[in-house]
Amino acid sequence: MSKRLLVTGGTGFVAGSVIAQGRGEWEVHALSRRDAPLSRSGLVWHQTDILDSDALADAFRQVAPHAVIHAAAAADIDDCQTHQDVAQRLNVDVTRELTGLCRQGGAKMVFLSTDTVFDGRRGNYVEDDPPGPINFYAETKVAAEAAVREGAADHVIARLSLVMGLPVLGTGNSFLAKMAAGLAEGRVQKVPAEEIRSPIDVITLGRALLDLAGNDLTGCFHLAGSDVLSRLDMSRRIAERLGYDKDLVVPSNASGIPGRAPRPRDASLNNAKARAMLATPMRTLDEGIDLILETKGLADS
Ligand SMILES: NC(=O)c1ccc[n+]([C@@H]2O[C@H](COP(=O)([O-])OP(=O)(O)OC[C@H]3O[C@@H](n4cnc5c(N)ncnc54)[C@H](OP(=O)(O)O)[C@@H]3O)[C@@H](O)[C@H]2O)c1
Repeated sequence: MSKRLLVTGGTGFVAGSVIAQGRGEWEVHALSRRDAPLSRSGLVWHQTDILDSDALADAFRQVAPHAVIHAAAAADIDDCQTHQDVAQRLNVDVTRELTGLCRQGGAKMVFLSTDTVFDGRRGNYVEDDPPGPINFYAETKVAAEAAVREGAADHVIARLSLVMGLPVLGTGNSFLAKMAAGLAEGRVQKVPAEEIRSPIDVITLGRALLDLAGNDLTGCFHLAGSDVLSRLDMSRRIAERLGYDKDLVVPSNASGIPGRAPRPRDASLNNAKARAMLATPMRTLDEGIDLILETKGLADS
């Protein structure tokens, strides 16, 4: 019988890639506030509010997972800055509760953290570099990482760089989907020129997270692409590859937008450890875009 994998935040952007690629290899159980976006063999959908501790514990015991990929989060940086109670509850408290359930149940915990735990003054960060959060979202992720490290016997902290791709299931928080919709209508897209990232495509990321859920590796891993570039250059390259006019992508002065939470300038992650230890190859931007285009409709298969 296949091993059971529990994925939180089922309709999320990253969770969709994990769920679509994990079926077959795992018996996948998704927790979500919403209805199942589709019905497939090998996928069991649990409509559960993970902010309700009892409901979370009940669902966990019902599934008795071998591994958990904890992808649910308050993941919008500006929303976290203005709704700090929800961000604290979901990103830190729920992560701590789930970590405790994993320890009790003997499940491996794979926690999704972020490149923005770093202050962005230097870039090319390795796993042992000290975090230096500059917004509330990043503060919650640093606190959650500590809760996972201290609380789960068997765990992985996966720090993700900016994730690019089209949602595989559900809607999800995909900047590329929003940008592509705007470009298709001929609308100018304003993108920060000063923010440097090492983007990873959502398909490679889902595959790498499934590797980490199923193998014996533990500890912190930077899951990132192999190219380092500004969000502006990245967006122009993607626009061009998708067949849109790249000149519609123009630089914005993001730090001048009122109410926008501060972002690290260069949050690029060094992926050498992941390249050396994971079965899934970390890809260049162009290879990642190829994969996104090749795997359109993955959820339908
Ligand atoms: N996308 C990126 O570029 C990126 C970069 C670095 C790190 N990350 C991290 O990767 C993880 C997944 O990100 P993502 O881009 O997939 O985010 P996402 O698309 O926003 O998905 C997060 C999911 O969390 C659940 N959720 C959100 N608010 C909730 C609430 N108040 N109560 C209960 N559940 C709630 C929702 O799932 P349901 O509605 O199905 O319950 C939501 O779809 C997060 O931990 C994020 O911080 C993402």
